[in-house]
Formats: sequence, C-alpha cells, structure tokens
Amino acid sequence: MIPLLIYGAGGLGREVLSLARTVGFKPIGFLDDAIAPRTEINDLRVLGSVEVLQAFHDPIHLVLALGDPVSKANVVKRIDPARVVYPILKHSSVILQDEYAIQIGEGSILCAGCVLTNDIVLGKHVLLNLNCTVGHDTRIGDCSSIMPGVNIAGQVTIGEAVLIGAGANIKNRVRIGDKSKIGMGAAVIQDIGPGVTAVGVPAKVVLR
Ligand SMILES: CC(C)(COP(=O)(O)OP(=O)(O)OC[C@H]1O[C@@H](n2cnc3c(N)ncnc32)[C@H](O)[C@@H]1OP(=O)(O)O)[C@@H](O)C(=O)NCCC(=O)NCCS
Repeated sequence: MIPLLIYGAGGLGREVLSLARTVGFKPIGFLDDAIAPRTEINDLRVLGSVEVLQAFHDPIHLVLALGDPVSKANVVKRIDPARVVYPILKHSSVILQDEYAIQIGEGSILCAGCVLTNDIVLGKHVLLNLNCTVGHDTRIGDCSSIMPGVNIAGQVTIGEAVLIGAGANIKNRVRIGDKSKIGMGAAVIQDIGPGVTAVGVPAKVVLR
C-alpha cells in the first residue's frame, strides 16, 4: 500500500481518510495549520503543517482535503512540488462513462456516486463531492470544489478555485469565473463573473 499524507484534518479530511483506505492507500498522518501537532483524529495523528514534508527523503503522496477552494490554492502555493506526488483519489462507485475522454488532474478527489460522461477536463486538486454529475465538454479549473449533489450540464466552464454549493444545478454552456461562490441549491442559468457570490433560483449575484 502507498503511504499517504492528508492535508486537512477536519470533516472532509476524515472522509478522505476512509476513501483513501478503500482505494489502496495507507494514510500515515494529517497535516493541518489549525490543529495542534500530535492531536489524534480517528486513528491518525496530526504531524504538523507543510514543513513536515521536509522530513521525507523521497517525494511523498499528499492529498488536500480542503473544501474551501481559495484556502486549498494557497496551501498548494506553499508546497514544493518536488517533495510530493499528488494522487487522484476516485471511489470505486464513480462512473466515467468514456474514461478515455475524461482528463483528471493530479490531486483531484472523486467521491462516491459521481457520474461523468465524456470530453471532460478536471484541473488539479478538484473536489467532486458525493453524487455529482458532470456532462459532456465541461471544464472545471484547478482547486475548485463541487459540493454534494451538484448537477453540471454539458459545455459548462468553471474557473479556478470556484465553490459550487451542495445541490446546485448549472445550465448547459454557462461559464463561472475564477474564485466565485455559488450557493447551496442555486440554479445557475447565465454566466457568473469572477470573484462573486451568487445564490438562489435563478442564481443572482449577492456579493462582489
Ligand atoms: C453561498 C455561500 C458560499 C455564501 O456564504 P458567505 O460568503 O459566508 O455569505 P453569507 O452567508 O453572508 O450570505 C450572503 C447572502 O446570501 C444569502 N445566502 C447564502 N447562501 C444562500 C443560499 N444557498 N441560498 C439563498 N441565499 C443564500 C444569505 O442569506 C445572505 O443574504 P443577506 O445578505 O440578505 O443576509 C454559502 O452560503 C453556501 O451556500 N456555501 C455552500 C455550502 C455547502 O455546499 N456545503 C457543503 C459541505 S459538504
């Protein structure tokens, strides 16, 4: 089994811990900036923060279990890529309808129940949480987090570090700009620019 560190020891971190075990990794510790070293979470310890990576002679597998996309992107910037390997974690129930026409970037996490059809590109460190659907010709940028039960139609373009709240529906051909947030349950039927928060049915921008 492949040793794995998990950055983020919160609720998502514990979910990623159990997912990682089901797909053949051997988690050896959490990294976290907000939880004290030596804290035990489930049966694993927090070892410290990203400075811990320097203790490993060879590159170590690491996955980022952070829901907040901007925090995730900031952690990536602090890590020397030469010290790590970012695996893809994909639950066995995930359906890649045409696996040869789907690109998944390093460090991405695909949770149980997700269905992706074809001609899809996921960037690096993308989170597809439980039971999401992703339609044809869709792009999802680096570090974006798609929360449980989101339906993304075809030809959708989602930028980098975007948060899509649980249960949102995204209409075909819509574009969502970098670092925007879409509220839980929203119906996004037109383009949303970068750096804004949009909520509701249909989704309207409420914060810039
Ligand atoms: C959209 C979201 C990111 C906004 O969070 P925020 O930046 O902290 O902003 P606020 O909570 O202050 O909300 C801003 C406004 O939008 C409203 N709002 C927030 N989320 C909303 C939603 N899902 N639907 C409708 N209105 C919503 C708030 O009531 C507030 O309105 P007001 O200014 O009239 O009081 C957050 O509410 C959200 O939906 N996050 C997704 C959570 C999720 O999916 N978790 C899954 C974990 S597995």
